[in-house]
Formats: sequence, C-alpha cells, structure tokens
Amino acid sequence: VSTGLADFYEAGYTQADPERAALLGRWRAHGADLKAGHITTLCARAGRAPRSVIEIGCGDGALLSALAARGFAVSYDGFELSEPAALLARDRNIPGAGRIESFDGSRVPAGDATYDLAVLSHVLEHVPDPLSLLREAARVARAVLVEVPLEHNRSAARPHKRAEARGIGHIQAFDRADIHALATAAGLRVFGELTDPLPVTHHAFFAASPAERVKGRLKWGIRTAVWRAAPQRAERLFTVHHAALLGR
Ligand SMILES: C[S@@+](CC[C@H](N)C(=O)[O-])C[C@H]1O[C@@H](n2cnc3c(N)ncnc32)[C@H](O)[C@@H]1O
Repeated sequence: VSTGLADFYEAGYTQADPERAALLGRWRAHGADLKAGHITTLCARAGRAPRSVIEIGCGDGALLSALAARGFAVSYDGFELSEPAALLARDRNIPGAGRIESFDGSRVPAGDATYDLAVLSHVLEHVPDPLSLLREAARVARAVLVEVPLEHNRSAARPHKRAEARGIGHIQAFDRADIHALATAAGLRVFGELTDPLPVTHHAFFAASPAERVKGRLKWGIRTAVWRAAPQRAERLFTVHHAALLGR
C-alpha cells in the first residue's frame, strides 16, 4: 500500500478544528451503531455467536467500541493502515480489546484461523485490490463480515457524486453481484446478507438549516419507500449499505 494512501487516511483522522473533530466523531459513532446492528443481525440470523473478532481497517475504533457496548463477542483486535487512527482506537480502552495496531494494509500479522470473525467494514471500496484483502481476512478468520456502500447505481454515477466518493477515498464502486463474485473468488459462500437505505438520522446528519433538514427527511422518505417496495431496483437507483456474512 502506498504511503500516499496512509497519509490520506491520517489527514482524515487528525482534525485541527475541535468542533469539526467532535462532529466527525459523532458521525462515526452514529455510523458505527448502524454497522454494529447489521453485524449482530446477520450473525444472529445465521446462528453464529463469535467469541473472537478482528476488524481489519478499524479506523478510530468506533465500530469495535459499538460491538463491545452490545456485548457482541469476548475479544476484539483491530488492525489499521493509519497509525494515528490505530492510536485513537487503542486510547478508547475498549472492554475486551487485545491487539490494536497499525499494519501495512495487506498482510495481517496473525496466524491462520486465529479468529471466529473478521470484519471488513467500509474498507473494500477504499483498496486497490479488494480480493487480496478479502482473502487475507478469510485466512485469519473462519467467517468474514463485509459491509460496503453499493455505489454502482444511477444516482452515484453522476459526475459530482463520483467526485465526492473519490474525495473520501472510494476507488471502487460495487454492486451486489461484485460482492458475490469477490466472495466466490475468495472461496467463500454467502451465509446471509442485508441492505439498508439508512435512517433519517443519517440522511439529515449534516443538515445545518431547517430547509436542509426537510431535504434530508424527504430523501430518507423516498428512498425508504422505494427500497421497501422493490429492494433490488432500489440498489440500481441509489446507494444502500450492503452487509454480507461470508464463510466456507
Ligand atoms: C471508512 S473507514 C471505515 C472504518 C471502520 N471500519 C468503520 O466501518 O467504521 C475506512 C478505513 O479503512 C482504512 N484502510 C484503507 N485501506 C486499508 C487497507 N488496505 N487495510 C486496512 N485498512 C485500510 C482507512 O485507514 C480507514 O480507517
């Protein structure tokens, strides 16, 4: 992984403006709670209760922290490309946390099948070779939970939306079939999956005026209605989050 990418993520985690840093912290916590909900739902549906979890690309530890708050597993390790983010994650003192470390972004320093579950949450869309990282997750764990935004859709294909996604480091735009193909190529089966058009609190999070809040509510209302009526069609029209539990 190039130093450039690591620098890019470091800049994202080190905000000079304290107000902006606090807002982004709340945004990550809000997202982490949604993601933790997806993970617990899929594991419960598949009858799995992992004891040891590794999150690859754990960022500042928001998701590990949300999982620990739910008592999801017993032990939590996290590996991250960005050293400042790994430090923030370690400083959270998450109950059950073990190794919280930075790594080279490709080879996780752990033995085969060390963990019950590896989590790759909102990471594969950031990496040049998603299949290699998925294989690495499947090497160190018996099951892998992948969550990505499905950005191969009509709304996200608009030039300003592509530019926005690139601006936050998304170099892949997946659809559901891409995730299935990656799983197959990594020798994994899909045990369960779900999509989420995201709640109103997500769509209106950055709304700074009553007009923007109305816009956020409208977006949420329309997207939720389309997703409920025709979930597969919704995926082709706008971005939903997709979580999949993969295993052998
Ligand atoms: C959008 S954040 C997601 C953080 C966390 N997983 C979550 O869901 O809240 C993407 C993270 O992936 C990390 N990342 C990017 N490329 C990576 C790689 N090759 N290996 C591990 N982490 C990577 C970035 O540093 C960043 O922290």
